[in-house]
Amino acid sequence: MRTINVGVIGTGGIASNQHMPALQKQPDIKIMAVCDTNEESAKRAAERFSVPHIFTDYKKLLEMDEIEAVHICTPNFMHAQPAIDALNAGKHVIVEKPLARSAVEGAPMVDAARKNKKKFMVAQNVRFGSDIQALKRYIDAGDLGDIYFGRVWALRRRGVPSWGVFTDKEKQGGGPLIDIGVHVLDLTLYLMGHPKPISASGQAFTKLGNTPGHVGAYGPWNWQNYTVEDYAAGFVRLDNGASLIIESSFAANIAEDVMRSSLLGTKGGAETHPVRIFGEEKEMVYDLTPKYLPNVSSYEVEIRGFYDAILNDTEPPVTGEQALNVMKILDAIYKSSEEGKEVLID
Ligand SMILES: NC(=O)c1ccc[n+]([C@@H]2O[C@H](COP(=O)([O-])OP(=O)(O)OC[C@H]3O[C@@H](n4cnc5c(N)ncnc54)[C@H](O)[C@@H]3O)[C@@H](O)[C@H]2O)c1
Repeated sequence: MRTINVGVIGTGGIASNQHMPALQKQPDIKIMAVCDTNEESAKRAAERFSVPHIFTDYKKLLEMDEIEAVHICTPNFMHAQPAIDALNAGKHVIVEKPLARSAVEGAPMVDAARKNKKKFMVAQNVRFGSDIQALKRYIDAGDLGDIYFGRVWALRRRGVPSWGVFTDKEKQGGGPLIDIGVHVLDLTLYLMGHPKPISASGQAFTKLGNTPGHVGAYGPWNWQNYTVEDYAAGFVRLDNGASLIIESSFAANIAEDVMRSSLLGTKGGAETHPVRIFGEEKEMVYDLTPKYLPNVSSYEVEIRGFYDAILNDTEPPVTGEQALNVMKILDAIYKSSEEGKEVLID
């Protein structure tokens, strides 16, 4: 068994809570170096995960020849450049979702992977839950028939992040649509078999996030510097004749939080979170609920999938092209909102 040495850039929440614990469980992977511009954060991570090398400049980490793969766990504005630099330095790259702040910013990442013949994956963990995989097997067997419509909900009633840069449009590229909508949009396209988007129409609102006096489920946020949308909705046409709707919010006057993909097929339908399948057979409509699914971490399965692609020289389970299509949809919804009309996607 050969060991793959890896580096982690950004040692904040997602790196310390998911990536590094998952990496530590892999017998053939060693975390060789961590990097964070916040040296204290890098030191804490190095101590907790027994990492020998600590950097505050990611370019120094990329100079380590023994590092084969890099995890990019920085905020959205710091995805593209470190990814491109890592790929050009000959490393395989897994980058946190979303790909980047826009498709224009993300496309050179996908090009750099192709040019350098390195594995490149966006960490869309939600796909890898055992319930989702069970539903995917059902879909792949044709049991939903033709899926002609998808519904994407990533809705929080009062879930404005009160930490990090999640409410800063310049650093994030957008609000709930790009931060949490991206999870369920990727999931829905995956379940629908990755049809390509051809147009989108949508509207983004900033009504609650930038005004005082609201309850915050994650504590008070800085409403004076809130520059992203707090609710967005979109309608997307796909090249196989199907379409989907998406709704995403950090704050909206709704009954409850919903994270769900919902599919309408000619033979059956399905919902996620929790997974339920709606069928019709023998003059009866029925609901099917999976039981006794393996209790696995979607993050661990995702990360193992990336390393298996490196070891077996296969395509990673989330491809750059798939991530670009997701970004193009998000971009088109924001653009449509600004222009007040449907936007074509090339
Ligand atoms: N898949 C998921 O479920 C999930 C959950 C949370 C966050 N994320 C994604 O992970 C990314 C990071 O989010 P987070 O919640 O961990 O944020 P965070 O703020 O907790 O951590 C980000 C870290 O990056 C560091 N950093 C910033 N610029 C840097 C640079 N140039 N070089 C090195 N380090 C730098 C910061 O100091 C910070 O420690 C975001 O893109 C977010 O969308 C994904």
